[in-house]
Amino acid sequence: MDAPRTSRGFTEHERARAADLYWEAFSRKLRPALVDDATGLALVRTALSPDRVLVARAGGSVVGICGFYEGNKGAVDLTWAGLRGRLSAAASVRALLLLAPLSRRAQRDALVLDGICVDPALRGRGIGSALLEAATDHARSRGARAVRLSVVDTNPRARALYDRLGFEPAGSGSLGPFGAVYGFSGYTVMERAVAR
Ligand SMILES: CC(C)(COP(=O)(O)OP(=O)(O)OC[C@H]1O[C@@H](n2cnc3c(N)ncnc32)[C@H](O)[C@@H]1OP(=O)(O)O)[C@@H](O)C(=O)NCCC(=O)NCCS
Repeated sequence: MDAPRTSRGFTEHERARAADLYWEAFSRKLRPALVDDATGLALVRTALSPDRVLVARAGGSVVGICGFYEGNKGAVDLTWAGLRGRLSAAASVRALLLLAPLSRRAQRDALVLDGICVDPALRGRGIGSALLEAATDHARSRGARAVRLSVVDTNPRARALYDRLGFEPAGSGSLGPFGAVYGFSGYTVMERAVAR
């Protein structure tokens, strides 16, 4: 595999591939809100924003993406109107309620990440690390002092990657009784300082 190249945004031609990667990685967490795989994937395909996604490509294909928050929107901006395009009013209300505990906000001092994922067949080859370097560069260009992310307690391999790249614990949280719905309960907030 060629060394991955990273840049911000994807083309409309790449939208389905980027959304497939996102859904493959995060469907366990999102499916309870978005009903089933077909509906969830369709919603993510529509709502994934190229403006808030860093993309890794190798051999001309998208091999990984890293979302981030900007202007209080994440990589996947599931609005009422977007949900109603696929779901009933009741199911849309339910989706927004279930998604609310997972939502983060953009912050002035730090670039807050919203889902990093790599093609399962290509993991362990440095693509995730390249995306986190790209996120750090993007944070620096915005004048942020840190890159911030949340990692769930059931994902020790991702946590090991963040530890290795110099992210440090900066807080923690729990979804309480919602944990059973999403398949995880506790999470750790981690930060990587942006060198000037
Ligand atoms: C976490 C993830 C983005 C890492 O991407 P990657 O391209 O495999 O990362 P790199 O090759 O740069 O680094 C690999 C390291 O990541 C960690 N890692 C996490 N999940 C991994 C996986 N499924 N396969 C291989 N490595 C994984 C390991 O610590 C590994 O270190 P090692 O090579 O010393 O064992 C990727 O595994 C992934 O998409 N996982 C599913 C989605 C996810 O869990 N995202 C994180 C949410 S907080």
